[in-house]
Amino acid sequence: MTENSTDSANPFAYSDLVKEHFLNPKNFLMGDESKFAYDAKGIVGNPICGDQMLMFLKIKDDKIEDVKWKTYGCASAIASTSALSELAKGKTLDDALAISADDIAEYLGGLPKHKFHCSVLGHDALRAAIQSYRKKS
Ligand code: FES
Repeated sequence: MTENSTDSANPFAYSDLVKEHFLNPKNFLMGDESKFAYDAKGIVGNPICGDQMLMFLKIKDDKIEDVKWKTYGCASAIASTSALSELAKGKTLDDALAISADDIAEYLGGLPKHKFHCSVLGHDALRAAIQSYRKKS
């Protein structure tokens, strides 16, 4: 687990990258999902906090062409999923599946230990979307 390396004295501190992705989330789906012609959709809930994540993928030639997402999750979930969406875009489905929650936390410069579970929400939604796409293909 990649914990916050920016301020070990303050377990609530977020890295600058986490703040940037929370305040300016990448690939966030504004409005209704009908505005994004997706090929796959994944929905998951976080059993720890009850929050939800929806992930939408455009897929071409087994690659993720575009990603959009929505969530009721917290700042950490928003930042983590924003980062994940950037990491996953352009990857093959297998390479996207190989992105771990640790990869996301590392990309963001660490997450507070008690918020690490939030990074799993987008990660699980991406996996659910890919699994649903493979089931129907
Ligand atoms: S507290 Fe629910 S996703 Fe972070």
